[in-house]
Order: sequence, then C-alpha cells, then structure tokens
Amino acid sequence: MLSPREIIRNLPSYHPPLAGRDGLRLDFNENVDGCSPSVLACLQSLTTEDLARYPEREPVEADVAKFLGVLNSELLLTNGVDEAIHLLCQAYIDHGPSQDEAIIVVPTYSMYRIYMLAAGAKLVTVPAGPDFQFPADAVLASITQRTRLIAIANPNNPTGMVAPRQTLLAIAQAAPHAAVLVDEAYFEFNGETLLPERENCPNLFIARTFSKAYGLAGLRIGALIGDAGQMRVLRRVSSPYNVNAAALACLPPALADQAYVEQYVTEVRESRMRLETLLHANGIQCWPSHANFVLMRVGPTAADSIAFVEHMRQHGILVRDRSADHACEGCVRITLGTRQNTDRLLTVLQQAIDTRSLIASATGTRP
Ligand SMILES: Cc1ncc(COP(=O)(O)O)c(C=O)c1O
Repeated sequence: MLSPREIIRNLPSYHPPLAGRDGLRLDFNENVDGCSPSVLACLQSLTTEDLARYPEREPVEADVAKFLGVLNSELLLTNGVDEAIHLLCQAYIDHGPSQDEAIIVVPTYSMYRIYMLAAGAKLVTVPAGPDFQFPADAVLASITQRTRLIAIANPNNPTGMVAPRQTLLAIAQAAPHAAVLVDEAYFEFNGETLLPERENCPNLFIARTFSKAYGLAGLRIGALIGDAGQMRVLRRVSSPYNVNAAALACLPPALADQAYVEQYVTEVRESRMRLETLLHANGIQCWPSHANFVLMRVGPTAADSIAFVEHMRQHGILVRDRSADHACEGCVRITLGTRQNTDRLLTVLQQAIDTRSLIASATGTRP
C-alpha cells in the first residue's frame, strides 16, 4: 500500500477556517478593502494569450528589486511568503538520524512549524517572554551547531509585537551556519525593515508579501530577499513558474499605486488606535500591535473566546479564535481595515461589552 514518509504521516494537519466566511471578514489579516483599482483594470485586460503562456517572472522581479532598492540577483518572487518558507526549509534542512534543528518563537505564524516538520527538522520552540516579549536570550541560548533555520515574524502574528532590530541582528550573527528568516509580511503597517542589513549578514533573509497592505492575497505573490549566492541556491529549488501570470501582470500596477497603499495603511493605523483605546477603556487586555490586527483576551479559557467569536459572527463580523496558540487561551485576533469597517466593528464590540458583559464577566478585569 502506498504510504507517505513517516514525517508526513505524523504531520499535524492545519485547516484554517476558510469555509462560509460571510460577513465582515476580520479573521485572516487580509486587506478588507480590496486592492488598487488599477490592479482590477489590469486583470480585466488579460487576454487568452496571456493565460496560455507560461509566466515569465524575471521582468517583474526586476521591477520589485528596483522598488525595494536591492539587486535583481538578491530577490526571488514567490507564491506568497508561504512558498518562501517552504523553499528555505527545502534548501537548508537535512532530515536523517542527526536531525537538523529549526527554531521558532511561539506563538507565531503556523506555517513555519508545518514546513519545518515536513522537511524533517527537529523543531525547537522557544516560548515568548512575559506579555509576549521577544525572548532574545532564550533564542540565542537555543542555537546549536545543528541549527539550520530560524524563522521570526516581525511584526509577529498573532501578537502584533516586534523584536528589537539589534536582537534580530545578534541572532543572525550568532548563527552564521543557519538561515535566519525575518518575515516582514506586515512591514507596511510597521514601517521598520531589516532589508539594509542583508549586506552585512549573508545568512539573513527578508520576506515580504503583497497579500496584506496591497490586498492581493488571492493572487499569491510575495518576495524573498537575501544574499545573491544563497538566492541562486533557492532558485534551483523553486519552480520557474512558481508565480502565476495574473499575479505577475498585476504587480507592476499595484506597486505603481503607492497612494492606494498609503491611504489603506493610514486607515489601518488609525483603526488600530481606535480599537486599542476602546479595549483599554473597558479594561480588556490587549497587546500593542504593529500590524493590521490586534490580539485581545476576552476571558481566561477557550470557551470564552469561542463564545465571543460566535457572538461576533451572529452580528456579521468574523474574528479569529487564537486559544490554541501558546499562552493565548481566551484570546481573539481582530483584523483592522477601513474607517467604515472599524465604525461597525467598534459598535458591535461596545454592544457586546455593554449588553452581555460577554468580555467583562469572563476576564474579571473590568472594575
Ligand atoms: C507572519 C506571516 N507570514 C506569512 C503569511 C502568509 O503570507 P502569504 O499570503 O504571502 O503567503 C502570513 C499570513 O497570515 C503571516 O501572518
């Protein structure tokens, strides 16, 4: 009988709750406003010939490299950041009796774990410090001669918190034999990047996505940037057609419309502040976010967050239960978008707090 590799048989399955997402979708950190109108116009102008041909990645790669101020040889367009993580695992992790190690700080983005385990790595999970602070010393202490990959989301998902720049550089310098991925999927909402540091750290990789601020999650496109020699290796692992023709056609107009991105980011930042203000005013615990979402604790147990998610769903707003994540019991993550969406979100949230004591009774933190 056909049987997959043992590692794959034992792999936990990850099923994000994608089905039946009717309502205001504040559950997946997507752009809730859509994308630039010029992207839509570009999609509508695609011809049958455009779709019949295999996609050519290089010209668009050159556009993105120019936009980011890096060399073409330092950048690979990928099928979202997810593929970038996958490629790094394929390129650097060896399975076998003396397993290679891969380090993540939990809670964090779920796909690091999946790809690392699938590649055969021994997963080393370092718990975040109090209040989800980045555990710099513990990460440094967990680096060994077998460490081959360290993945850090900055800002992190689901906490929205950031690690200090010097800490990230210290980690990259302490593990020259490991690939260090700094995943900047939420860069636009934060504004800080480690991109210039790649010149001094040949083992540092930076990932960016067009799924979030640019509103192109459905097209699946991202970029991985690193040392040109290492990127040559990653190109070998990647399919030459990893990014589809529609995504490649749409990226130049998306990049050209920076006014759209800036406007959206401004609204998200303003929305984030409004939500944090409301939560603080009601004594609800949340963490300072640098991304397009906020993590809040609605009660001490998973039952509290499940009830809260259901209450919001009944009022037409989808939010994400994060109780299963490390140290996140009773926590819910809410994506932020436009002012209009936030008006609606805050109204429903305030009603939930006032009329049902849904949050206050569960946390006991309210006076
Ligand atoms: C930290 C982080 N990295 C990567 C991704 C996935 O990005 P992409 O859509 O480019 O695969 C996500 C999506 O939520 C994320 O939170």
